[in-house]
Amino acid sequence: MKILVRAPSNIALVKYMGKKTVPVGAQTNLPENPSLSLTLSSLCTFLELRISAARAGEESAFRLLPEMPGDSRGEVPKLTPLGGEKFLKHLRRCEALLPSILDRNGIPAFSHFNGDLEVRSSNTFPQSAGIASSASSFAALTLAAGTALVKEPIDFSKRWKEDSKLRGDFARVSREGSGSSCRSFHGPFVAWEGANVSEIPSNLPPLSDLVIIVSSGEKKVGSTEAHSRVKTSPSWPGRVARASERFEGVRSAIIHGNWESVIQLAGVDSRDMHELFSSAEPPFSYFEKGTESVLDFLKREHRDARVAVTLDAGPNIHLIVPQSEEQYWKRVISDRFPEFPCLIDREGQGAEVLKILP
Ligand code: DP6
Repeated sequence: MKILVRAPSNIALVKYMGKKTVPVGAQTNLPENPSLSLTLSSLCTFLELRISAARAGEESAFRLLPEMPGDSRGEVPKLTPLGGEKFLKHLRRCEALLPSILDRNGIPAFSHFNGDLEVRSSNTFPQSAGIASSASSFAALTLAAGTALVKEPIDFSKRWKEDSKLRGDFARVSREGSGSSCRSFHGPFVAWEGANVSEIPSNLPPLSDLVIIVSSGEKKVGSTEAHSRVKTSPSWPGRVARASERFEGVRSAIIHGNWESVIQLAGVDSRDMHELFSSAEPPFSYFEKGTESVLDFLKREHRDARVAVTLDAGPNIHLIVPQSEEQYWKRVISDRFPEFPCLIDREGQGAEVLKILP
């Protein structure tokens, strides 16, 4: 059997930064603070799972192949051996956790994978764009693994589209692979609080995300390391309270269609997170010269613009704007900074099953 799925990336408006310390063997990636994000659409991972015939009495083997999935776009991510291992280890986690979740949702499932698995994946954004691929790739892997475990995959893929609770249950499992991936199962607005993930009803106009690529170098500090190092900053005490308050503010602003308030709170939260980085012990920063230039330009010449400006653990700048203003902003940025590529994506829904072939 061949399964093709697609899962989008997401951009946080209130950031997940800092993980709860838990005993070994307990659930992983429980966040210190609630976070909230916008799900994207064409910046995504395609992932294909091929399941070979079962070998009686033997545990299934997993292989990650550096090849494009059939019918996909983009480029094959280059994973380090450790990254590849972490990815495949997540399949065992899916095998351990998803059968009982499916069972509780009344979906007939096998207790184990029925054969060996081959994984192929591609990202539509170039690796050099510095967009975190762990959110979209772990979400895609979790959904593909679940589809491989059910007895009636076609029925499951129909149910998947309509059942937000089922997607929320999968999101919890995906979170254990990579935290931010749990926000790629719903859309366009997603709240993540503790172990729970849910959709936020919106009265905002449809949004676009312009990603200004100022640098495409390797990240100096991975986000997993950043999650632990922020706790050494003198600004860490109070971060959970500050982010929680902004989370409530942004959630309410989305529900009431108050775009000004989203802009203000998202900007403050991104600056708060980057200040934690620069005051950590030892300090670190993702900002490059280009990051400063773009931020200065926006502050100087577009101070009252109706755009939300946010940066993840990287140097690139996300401008979130109403879709009706997307082309205007694309021109503003490429006229002033022709040297920086600018990717445009629109808000979207969560992970989906694209194809199931016998
Ligand atoms: C800065 O989800 O990449 O993008 O749970 O260790 O995989 P792990 O971390 P990850 O952290 C993302 C952090 C962030 C902010 C955010 O997306 O909320």
